[in-house]
Amino acid sequence: MKEKLLQVKNDALEQINKITNNDDIEKIRVKFLGKKGELTLILRSMGALSKEEKPVVGKLANDVRNIIEENIAKIKTDINNKIKEEKLNNEKVDVTMPSNYYQIGRRHPLMQTKEELENLFLSMGYDVVEGPEVDTVKNNFDDLNAPEDHPSRDMSDTFYLADGIVLRTQTSPVQIRIMKTQKPPIKMVSAGRTFRFDEVDDTHSPMFHQMECLVIDKGITMANLIDAINQFVREMFGEEMKTRFRPHNFPFTEPSAEVDVSCLKCKGKGCEACNGTGWSMELLGCGMVHPNVLKNCGIDPEVYSGFAFGMGIDRVTMVKYGLNNIRLLYENDERFLKQF
Ligand code: DAH
Repeated sequence: MKEKLLQVKNDALEQINKITNNDDIEKIRVKFLGKKGELTLILRSMGALSKEEKPVVGKLANDVRNIIEENIAKIKTDINNKIKEEKLNNEKVDVTMPSNYYQIGRRHPLMQTKEELENLFLSMGYDVVEGPEVDTVKNNFDDLNAPEDHPSRDMSDTFYLADGIVLRTQTSPVQIRIMKTQKPPIKMVSAGRTFRFDEVDDTHSPMFHQMECLVIDKGITMANLIDAINQFVREMFGEEMKTRFRPHNFPFTEPSAEVDVSCLKCKGKGCEACNGTGWSMELLGCGMVHPNVLKNCGIDPEVYSGFAFGMGIDRVTMVKYGLNNIRLLYENDERFLKQF
C-alpha cells in the first residue's frame, strides 16, 4: 500500500507540473482528491490493514494528500500570476496617442451681458431678485398705474394666457412684487425674459430681455436717479461715455425720461453708425416712481420716494458689441456665437 501511495504521489506531481490552465487544475484535483479520486480510493481500502500498519500508512496518506494540495495551490498561483501579467502587457496605455476632442461650450452673449450687469449692480449695493415670466394683469398693468385704455394692454401687443394672466411685457411687475412683500429701504435689480406681440425686424423680437431697477427710501430724488444711471453707464461702457435724458411718458413714473448713451464707435463725434448724431439708440426708460404705484403697494408717498429704470439687455448687448441686427442674438448661428 505504501508503494501505491508513493506511486500516486509521483503521478500527481508529474501531472500537476504539466498543468497550464485553470480548467486542468480542477480536473487533476478531482482525479486524485475527489470522492472517487485515486488517493481517496486507497484511503477507503485501509480497513484491510493490520493495527500496526494503520497509523503508519495513515500518516503517509495524509502527507501525500498535503503535498498534492500544496502543489495544486502553488500551480494555481503561478498560472493566475501569468494571466495577470499577460493582461497587463496587452493593456499597455500609449500616452502619446491623440485624445478625443470635446468642444467646450460658452455663455450666450445675452447671458454674459445679464451676468455682467448683475455683478455691476451687486457691487453698487443692489439686491439681485427674480420674478416669474407669467404674471397677473394686476402686477403687469393695474398696480403699475397703467390706464384701462393703455394701448400696451391690447391683445395685439400682449400675449394673454388666460383671463387676467399674461406673459409679462416688461420686468416692471417685479417692482410691484417686491414693494408688496418688503419694507423700504429697497434697492434691487431684476433681469429676465419679457414678451410682446412684435414682428421680427432688425431691432424687435417677440421675446427679449430686460433689467429692472428700483430704489425706494426717504428723500430719494431725481439727482440720485441720474447719478445711478451715469455711474452704471461709465462702468459698463467706459469713462468717456455721456448720457442724454429725454422727457418721456411712462404710467408708473412721474417725471419720466428715456436715456441715450454716446455712440460707442465714435464716442460722440458723429459717424455713419450713429447717422452723425453722436448718440447710440435709446438704452433705457426711467423716472421717479409714481405716488399711485407706491400707494398700490401700501407704501406712503408722503414718507417715501424712489426711482426706477428698465433697460433692454438685448439693446445693451447690441450697443456693447456694435451689432446692427437683433436677429443675430436669436438665430443660434455658431459662427456668430463663437466670437464671444
Ligand atoms: N417697463 C418699461 C418698458 O418696458 C421700461 C421702464 C421705464 C421701466 C421706466 C421702468 C421705468 O422701471 O421707470 O418700456
